Amino acid sequence: MAHPRKRPEELRSHRWFGAKDLRAFGHRSRTLQMGYSREDFAGKPVIAILNTWSDINPCHAHFRTRAEEVKRGVWQAGGFPLEMPAIALAEPFQKPSTMLYRNLLAMETEELLRSYPVDGVVLMGGCDKTTPALIMGATSMNLPAIYVPAGPMLRGNWHGEHLGSGTDSWKYWAELRAGTIDEQAWQEVESGIARSFGHCMVMGTASTMTSVAETLGLTLPGAASIPAADANHPRMATESGRRVVDMVWEDLRPAEILTPAAFDNAITVVHALSGSTNAIIHLVAMAGRAGIDLKLERFDELARTTPVLANVQPAGKYLMEDFYYAGGLRALLANLNGKLNLGCRTVNGMALGQNIEGARTYNEDVIRNRGNPVSAIGGLAVLRGNLAPDGAVIKPTAAEPRLLKHIGAAVVFRDYNHMAARIDDENLKVDADSVIVLQNAGPLGGPGMPEWGQLPIPKKLLREGVRDMVRISDARMSGTSYGACVLHVAPESYLGGPLALVKDGDRIELDVERRRLQLHVDDAELMRRRRLWQPPAPHYARGYGALYAKHITQANQGCDFDFMHAGAPTPDPEIH
Ligand code: FES
Repeated sequence: MAHPRKRPEELRSHRWFGAKDLRAFGHRSRTLQMGYSREDFAGKPVIAILNTWSDINPCHAHFRTRAEEVKRGVWQAGGFPLEMPAIALAEPFQKPSTMLYRNLLAMETEELLRSYPVDGVVLMGGCDKTTPALIMGATSMNLPAIYVPAGPMLRGNWHGEHLGSGTDSWKYWAELRAGTIDEQAWQEVESGIARSFGHCMVMGTASTMTSVAETLGLTLPGAASIPAADANHPRMATESGRRVVDMVWEDLRPAEILTPAAFDNAITVVHALSGSTNAIIHLVAMAGRAGIDLKLERFDELARTTPVLANVQPAGKYLMEDFYYAGGLRALLANLNGKLNLGCRTVNGMALGQNIEGARTYNEDVIRNRGNPVSAIGGLAVLRGNLAPDGAVIKPTAAEPRLLKHIGAAVVFRDYNHMAARIDDENLKVDADSVIVLQNAGPLGGPGMPEWGQLPIPKKLLREGVRDMVRISDARMSGTSYGACVLHVAPESYLGGPLALVKDGDRIELDVERRRLQLHVDDAELMRRRRLWQPPAPHYARGYGALYAKHITQANQGCDFDFMHAGAPTPDPEIH
């Protein structure tokens, strides 16, 4: 729907800068104090640049200069840019998990926008949780918003071989533990696997979520695939700055873009990319902020009819740099023609279908067409059964096919430390058919639902050549990982979900085709175990952790805080 262009007096920031009273005098005089002239801000849309740069986030190392490039675009279009730092959520460093803090960044985003004189916003993120967090907050605030994705880093390199973020660390870590590479080789891999700024360059959570942002219509067309170090990236940043100013005058807000049809498009693309399992949790949470009740079943329905077209690690062969040269996300979207709602509106004011007109594929092995898919059906499956009454997920494309229908005896670890202490014990009763179970790794149990779901293969089995096993937990898994890992089991074991009742030797059945996850223990015995079950001690007595523990929802509900879902809009602050 086209809106009449706003007048300057209708800008939200007019209440701060345009009023004729003492408070506005203070706002203007303090802006002038920073060296700006009246011409810089009077009657202009104020554009917040929410920048998740930090010295501790290597994926966003270029955001200091990118923010300047965004500002250039805002100035060019007649806006007034104000950069505002927001928590960086640096995946490689933050413990126990950045997921513990996703909702904190979402709240920070919303409250920065609410409490300051902001008319429109440029969201700068990319490292895993930053994308959903920034979008969740901006959706709740519903001011004109555009997303600038950090872009993937360059391909890793070791002895002329391409290395993928995370994916090849898991691979070579297993080889080091198996004794097939030495410490020297391991250190060389360490030096070569991340060699430029930008987010992980496999189809992990970062690339999946920035592709989701583009598909939802929140970035300029083509933005998500541009490598961070490519000169097209700063050009995209500047253009995003220019565009958001017009979005303010046009009053184009997330609520018009984030429709159920747009979320269906995003889910379809996650499947076609064989994207990260984390996308399921984030999309449910993002949709919740837009007032859309997204069920796990929708992911499964669309998976059954969506082919995997991206041949990118960890499910495929190539890396994001190859994906970009092959045509990028626009090419993949064009190849999905017929599976997408092309009428969905996007931040440039055009429909998704218009944005992908003319997109071409330049390497048909990297971005497949529908006649030659990597896999005929999507990359994620939702499981149910007495072990996961509220659902669990698996990425079948990243697992050894023989394990997708499997029955084995459980080897149970009560928490991560228990597992770390015992997994390589030569006396551990485990074989290649065992099912490894980790308890207390969910949203509350972890806490923060850490990415522990790719449980390690016991060393003695690695030596025998075993490289995949069925593994089950209520944790998440890094989008860079692979293996027959059943994740996000809900309700989680920390709350006494059925996963808490599993004991060593119990038979567990996984049947991906029938979407089934079953614990073969009779109900009477499960009832007996439930009566004996003791809830674990709380992790936090105070502070953010205690707030988190009180309000976090389960994986199938998106792990948002229960009080953050869409509802009556929060009023703007009064000016006094
Ligand atoms: Fe930042 Fe992977 S560590 S995206």
